[in-house]
Amino acid sequence: MKKILITGGAGFIGSHVVRRFVNNYPNYQIINLDKLTYAGNLLNLKDIEQSPNYKFIKGDIVDAAFIDQLFSKEQIDSVIHLAAESHVDRSISNPLEFVMTNVVGTVNLLNAARHQWKSEYSNHRFYHVSTDEVYGSLGETGLFTEQTAYDPHSPYSASKASSDHFVRSYHDTYGMDAVISNCSNNYGSFHFPEKLIPLSINNIKNNLPIPVYGKGENIRDWLWVEDHARAIDLIFHQAPAGTTYNIGGHNEWTNIDLIRLLCKIMDQKLGREPGASAKLITFVTDRAGHDLRYAIDSSKLQADLGWKPSLQFEEGLEKTVDWFLNNEDWLQSVTSGNYQSYYNDQYGKR
Ligand code: NAD
Ligand code: TYD
Repeated sequence: MKKILITGGAGFIGSHVVRRFVNNYPNYQIINLDKLTYAGNLLNLKDIEQSPNYKFIKGDIVDAAFIDQLFSKEQIDSVIHLAAESHVDRSISNPLEFVMTNVVGTVNLLNAARHQWKSEYSNHRFYHVSTDEVYGSLGETGLFTEQTAYDPHSPYSASKASSDHFVRSYHDTYGMDAVISNCSNNYGSFHFPEKLIPLSINNIKNNLPIPVYGKGENIRDWLWVEDHARAIDLIFHQAPAGTTYNIGGHNEWTNIDLIRLLCKIMDQKLGREPGASAKLITFVTDRAGHDLRYAIDSSKLQADLGWKPSLQFEEGLEKTVDWFLNNEDWLQSVTSGNYQSYYNDQYGKR
């Protein structure tokens, strides 16, 4: 039985990847390694936690000795690495945490894999899940391709860029079978409400201000999280060693247009007067170093592996709103406790 270590599997995207692999590949043993930071939540995996091919291990990728032991004890065959500190605003407040988890943690995993696999990579793969933010910011035109030079601006994107470079260097230096994908902004179920879409859904629901940074003119390219998980599945199984793939939704929205659409959907779902939720829109101080525009050219992934996004954004957003409204307990559990102090620190000062 092939043993696959998925790191960060209790987080937003990781939980979708774990669920997909556990359900679709009964002949794989899936080991989910997660520190369970504020962003990790085992409730995200309730539906598959009893599956015979699934095991959860709590642990920190920054702890090199623990990671080495884990690889040898569990005889890990391949890695899909998603564990990371993932929120730009938190990286501005605490950059070192991002260096530790995203850079040191990734190098610890690479070292453990190299030792465990004894430089023999024919049946072993290290897949690093990364972000389009490593490419920096676009002007009004153009798209990020796999050839775009790295130009990160936030401590988050700088740490992800660094980890990408380390992964590539282990392929080039040691011959490790390593692949990387760089994806645009995801949305969907189990999204932690520090990010724009789930935070706005939660605030609209509770009649709280919707904080829009600057003038709301920044553009993001949104992809439904299950389409990302499907791309990861294809790349893990089919990408040639040493390759990189961009993943994106061909779905650019200014933040303000996205929020207006979300308000319209929520007015309908909550039985509010048209325009009621939009009154909550509040422009607040901009994010420092705020990238203007991200947009992905995913034609390589489409041509090589036949992937394309499955959902139109309006449909995906409506599905997402429905999920949040139907999962009140989940939302309660992640917005109690430390979330309130995070929220007050972040938004009290804006
Ligand atoms: P997330 O913040 O929701 O989840 C991160 C997970 O990693 C959590 O479960 C957390 O507990 C775990 N973790 C954090 N530090 C750890 C440590 N030191 N040791 C072990 N586990 C640790 O993140 P996400 O949005 O699901 O993103 C997952 C990955 O995908 C990240 O690598 C991120 O850079 C990348 N990515 C995210 C997006 C996006 O839109 N969210 C887009 C492209 C790429
Ligand atoms: P976010 O969801 O944090 O993702 P990222 O910064 O990784 O793209 O933010 C998406 C966009 O929304 C980004 O341009 C910042 C903006 N934003 C707000 O306007 N208000 C908010 O409260 C948040 C969290 C983000």
